[in-house]
Amino acid sequence: MSLLSPIHHTFAPHVTLSYALRSIGLLLMPWKWQRGRDREILRHSLSDALHGDVALFASGREALVALFKAMHLKAGEEVIVQSYTCVVVPNAIHAAGGVPVYAEIDRETLNLTAESVRECLTPRTRAVICQHTFGIPGPTAELRTLCAEKHLTLIEDCAHVLPDASGPAPIGAGDFLLLSFGRDKAISGITGGAIVSKQSAVSALLKGEEAKARGLSHLHIVRLLLYPLVYLVSRPLIGVGIGKAILQLARMIGALVPILTATEKQGQMSPALHALPNACAALTLGEWKKLQKINDHRRALTQFFLEEGKEQQWPMLSGVTGDLPLQKFPLFTMHAEEIRQKLKKQNIHLHDGWTGCVVCPEGVDFDPVNYVPGSDPVAEAACEQILSLPTHPTMTLGQGRSLVRALSEVLPSSPHADR
Ligand SMILES: Cc1ncc(COP(=O)(O)O)c(C=O)c1O
Repeated sequence: MSLLSPIHHTFAPHVTLSYALRSIGLLLMPWKWQRGRDREILRHSLSDALHGDVALFASGREALVALFKAMHLKAGEEVIVQSYTCVVVPNAIHAAGGVPVYAEIDRETLNLTAESVRECLTPRTRAVICQHTFGIPGPTAELRTLCAEKHLTLIEDCAHVLPDASGPAPIGAGDFLLLSFGRDKAISGITGGAIVSKQSAVSALLKGEEAKARGLSHLHIVRLLLYPLVYLVSRPLIGVGIGKAILQLARMIGALVPILTATEKQGQMSPALHALPNACAALTLGEWKKLQKINDHRRALTQFFLEEGKEQQWPMLSGVTGDLPLQKFPLFTMHAEEIRQKLKKQNIHLHDGWTGCVVCPEGVDFDPVNYVPGSDPVAEAACEQILSLPTHPTMTLGQGRSLVRALSEVLPSSPHADR
């Protein structure tokens, strides 16, 4: 295995040379940073493809806060979200005055179910967020029926997957779709988020929220646009120990924007909204135009891991099928952490922030995010046993083969022995 190409989830998974060059090009054109045509072109293409009005913000979490504001979510109203999610989702509910309530997940899909949602319903329930975890589609048809029956709003969290002409078909039944253009999401503009609204009354209010959103500072945009360059330089050096030092240094001098702040990990988020910088819209648009190709690449890796996994009897999830453009490919093993540690020595980095935690990443305070330990034993076990394999745009099939070889030496093959 080449020392120069780490296998990873988090070292700028979307960043190729041409992505970095576009970002550098944008750095040199400050007049395009805040406003410009790219934002409007992105809005219209998303709107045409996803059949709704599109409001754009600086991140998915801010887009969600904007949606709750536009829906007039009242203080104390409950929003059902699944356990095994990212802390920014309950934070956004809190920031808008709502209360997150956690529905249990199904181990085979890592998604909530209509039954688990039903168990969470109270007279205060206002909305349900159906997260398509890692690109495995949630039960939208059942939730559509349940939400219609109970007069609830259905929000689909599409941070991990965007549908293309080949599917996944279940995505898009919600009243609103939440999109993220974060660094490791379905497509990436380094940062960014959107709401696709199918309700015209709410669309108008969302438009108002977007109009009021402040621009990110120029310094912030510079730091965002430096991210591809910093990773392009440091990534090949990770295997020889220098890459991480460069990243550490870049963080120390403030050249990189953290994905999550310390305050967010403590369960807090400001309700202030920021506009999607046009520069990030331009990068997102570049990826959006290649969505079919990106998804087909993810499908090819999903199919490859599925076939190899069947052959080697890996403990896989029955919700994973070969036609899915997965954001990552999950397995279960009792020795997940041990395996990740062993693989690190071979320049394979499978930590992704979604291990050892039901409200991710590890170390998030449960109290402020309203999660009661023990309330979802399935999620609590799954997050300890999960071992996810990369399927992102810069993960090659050759790296997939190397990963399978490395795994076959460390992964117990009998599902019965391991589950
Ligand atoms: C499931 C899920 N939903 C929503 C978001 C919010 O996305 P963003 O990072 O753009 O705020 C994330 C981000 O980590 C996520 O993992």
